[in-house]
Formats: sequence, structure tokens, C-alpha cells
Amino acid sequence: MTVEDDATKFQRDKAAFEQNCLQLRALIQEFHKTPLLSASLTGGLLAVMSVFKDHDEHFEHFVVVMCALIALFNAMIGLSCIRIRDVMQCYIEKASVFSEDFGEKGGRPAKPIFKELGNFSIAIGYAIMMGVVALTAIVLPLVAYGCTRFNAIPLVTTAAGLLTWYGWARWRHRVDNVDAVVAYYDRKGHDYIKETEPLDMREEVERFARHLPTSARVLDVGAGAGRDSKTLLDKGFKVVALEPSKVFAEHLRSIMGLAVSEMKAQDVEEVETFDGIWACASLLHFDEKKLPKVMQRLCRALRPNGIFYMSFKNGDGVRLPAKDGILFHDMTSDRLSKLATDNGLKVIEMWSNASKLQGTNEAQWNNIVARKPS
Ligand SMILES: C[S@@+](CC[C@H](N)C(=O)[O-])C[C@H]1O[C@@H](n2cnc3c(N)ncnc32)[C@H](O)[C@@H]1O
Repeated sequence: MTVEDDATKFQRDKAAFEQNCLQLRALIQEFHKTPLLSASLTGGLLAVMSVFKDHDEHFEHFVVVMCALIALFNAMIGLSCIRIRDVMQCYIEKASVFSEDFGEKGGRPAKPIFKELGNFSIAIGYAIMMGVVALTAIVLPLVAYGCTRFNAIPLVTTAAGLLTWYGWARWRHRVDNVDAVVAYYDRKGHDYIKETEPLDMREEVERFARHLPTSARVLDVGAGAGRDSKTLLDKGFKVVALEPSKVFAEHLRSIMGLAVSEMKAQDVEEVETFDGIWACASLLHFDEKKLPKVMQRLCRALRPNGIFYMSFKNGDGVRLPAKDGILFHDMTSDRLSKLATDNGLKVIEMWSNASKLQGTNEAQWNNIVARKPS
């Protein structure tokens, strides 16, 4: 590594470290507002309860309903504290990539006053506090009015609320992770490898590669059969193939020297890490709403002066009806150029060519090579 490379790497690591520290600090500030939120909600509901104390003949029922709300809200805020603790831990782990010391101590001083208070004890403390309030609100009506079905409402509401929340979170997790496009490629993967591996894309790769420094780090987004990853490896680049389909990822792992990351483009976390991003026919699975966010992530992962290649089938917007139930987003060369410039990239060259897939050569593809400014 040259002296200049060392200096650039240091600046990049420093920026990423500072960014993680800032985000962690902002999150901690927000986190300490949770007891206030719990106190205001509980206090507010108690105040509402007291207003009806001398007037309402159904006061007893009213208390039970209010207790149900107090229990539910506090149980949820308590769980949120545990979730926020995990996010804080995640920032610390990310920052520790740049400073081991930071990771080991989890942001603690060398000589804490109470060593026994481990990292994040305050988060667990808040969660316990809110758990106790929730439990009290469940037990109170049972103690005060006896064990009737009606007085079990706080318990039932809290259990139902937490179960709904958990169910919703699990459902979101499944929806986010089982993506129709990925499922499609998992189904068709083996045939797709046979069809696309022999295609000759060397000219396109060369038009991208000639702008890269020697031994550049390249991210192949949606690498598929790994055809272009192989050409890039042969040129002496360090290539990471990003591929969310299991079938493709397994195939890619058999390519010598290729690093494989089984994930989606929208989850890329790297900051200024790659000298080149190669996205051949892969960003076409994002619609107008999702594409800008993915582009933002990928451009963030590109180093200053880095080179971005993309290709889309010629057309105007999302193709309907969707083929095999999956989305295809087509782009005219004007739209493609706008996509690059909207993301701060400077167009180096654009060209069109016929599809190289057998039986589809009437289809036109638009290609672009663009540079991220320094
Ligand atoms: C039309 S294929 C192109 C494959 C390869 N680049 C080629 O030129 O042969 C689209 C690729 O994008 C991948 N893909 C789909 N959704 C993705 C996502 N969210 N992030 C990254 N890649 C994705 C697919 O698994 C597939 O490998």
C-alpha cells in the first residue's frame, strides 16, 4: 500500500468512526427520554382517572380500563428499551471495527465508579422500571376489586397487545426477507446460470474497468452466475459478489478468489469502501420508490472518484404486467443518465446494445459508466 493509500484509508476510517459515534450519541439522547414518555403517559392516564372519581358510578370499570392502558403502554416502552439497547450495541460494534478499544469497553471509562454496573445497565434498568409499572397496573384491579373476569382486562389487553406487536414484527421480518424477486431467482437459478454464464460481456466490463486503479475493490451487485465477477477477478481486481439468491450465492462460492456476500443491495452498509460498483441488469428489479434509496446506499459505498456501471433494458418505467410476478424497471438512456446525475455521479459514457441472450436479441439495453466526484 502506498503512503497516499494509507492517508486516504485513515481519512475514510476516521469519517466512518465519527459518523457511528455521532449516531450513537444521538440515539442515547433520545433513549433517555423513554422514562419521561412512560411517566407522562402513566401520569396522564391517572389524572384522567381521578377526574371521574366522585362522579362516575362506573368508576370501578373506568379504573380497570385505565389500568389496562397503563400496563400496555409501559410494557411496550419497556420492550422498546431493550430493542434500543440492541441498536446501541450495534453502533458500538460498528465503531469497534475502527477502534478495538472502543468495542471492548463499549464506551465505558477505564475506571468506572461502579464496575458492577455493566454496559447498558441503564437500558435494562429502564425496562425493569416500566415492567414493574405494567405489572402493578395488572395486579392493582385484581387486588382492589377481586378476581373477576372484568378485572382481568389489563392482563388480557397487555398480553394481546404484546402478542400482536410480536406477530407484526415477525410478519414484517418475513416480508422484508422473502422477496418475490429472490424467490424467483432461487426457483430459476440453475437454468439462469446455464443461460447467462456463457454470454460475452467482456467489452462492457472493459469499458468500466479501464477507469479503475490497479487492484481496485469492486462490488458486483446482483452477481447472478458470476460471469462478470470472474472477468473482473481475471483483471486483478478484488471482487465482492453481492447476491441475495441462495442458489446463485452457492454457485458464486465455487469461484476461486471471489468474496461472496449473501445479501441485498438495499442492505449495503459500507461507506466509501469500493473503487468500482458493477450493477449489470440487477437494479432493474427496484421500482421508482425503492431505486433512489438503493442508489443512495450504493453511492455511499463508493469511494470518491469511484466508478459506477449500470445497465437497464430500454423502456419507460416499470413494465406491466409483471413477468412471472416480478417487477422489471426499464429505462430510456435519458432516464438512466438522470438517475446517475441525481445521485451526484458524472456520466463518463453511455451506450446501447442488443440483448445477448438467445431469442431476445430484439431487446435493447442501455449502459452507463459514471464517476463519483472526488
Ligand atoms: C437479471 S439478473 C442479473 C444477474 C447478473 N448481473 C447478470 O448480468 O447476469 C438480476 C440479479 O439481481 C439479483 N437481485 C435481485 N434482487 C436483488 C437485491 N435486492 N439486491 C441485490 N441483487 C438482487 C438477482 O438475484 C439476480 O442475480
